[in-house]
Amino acid sequence: MRGITNLSSGMMGFAIARAARDAGAQVTLVAGPVHLPTPRGVVRVDVRSAQQMYDAVLPVAARHDVFVATAAVADWRPARLSDEKIKKNGNRVAPSFELTENPDILAAVAKLPDRPFCVGFAAESHDLLKHAREKLARKNVPLVVGNLGPATFGRDDNALVLVDADGHRELPQADKLTLARQLVAEIAARLASLSA
Ligand code: C5P
Repeated sequence: MRGITNLSSGMMGFAIARAARDAGAQVTLVAGPVHLPTPRGVVRVDVRSAQQMYDAVLPVAARHDVFVATAAVADWRPARLSDEKIKKNGNRVAPSFELTENPDILAAVAKLPDRPFCVGFAAESHDLLKHAREKLARKNVPLVVGNLGPATFGRDDNALVLVDADGHRELPQADKLTLARQLVAEIAARLASLSA
């Protein structure tokens, strides 16, 4: 075994960074190990682990008006790393791994006293609306964007459902940049109504 991972490509996050820049925002993009070009004018910080992402996001989050958590962060990591290759032991007994929980970046940002407007993502395989509503409450954020993970990972298009305390709104199937622009416009409208 060489690794355990998921199939998230980072495309939605990069599309949102680009859409936000086009809308006039100054954007910091904290990116995991993905092979995507940095949108021009966007400050990119590359990280490899959930802990590194937490360490990169937390000190700067309050300096931003909006935090959009698109990364498919692993909930668990191996409790111990081996410096050496774990060899087959000849008796065909699979090694077992102890896992430990990663910090929840979105929940931590949402707890900051001067927190930005926080937008969470919910990539689900089923019962999207139900899980998105649960996430809204559990993470204590004003907006959660749901999508059906397996249908969109690595693809150019997506369909979103925006869930807030009042209800939900569907953004039908479109390419990710189109959806990102719609999402950014929606966030901008909410920020405007908050400051009105
Ligand atoms: O249910 P789950 O914790 O996976 O919620 C997904 C949302 O939380 C996404 O917005 C994801 O970016 C964020 N998340 C996070 N840190 C984690 C796990 C998820 O910020 N360790």
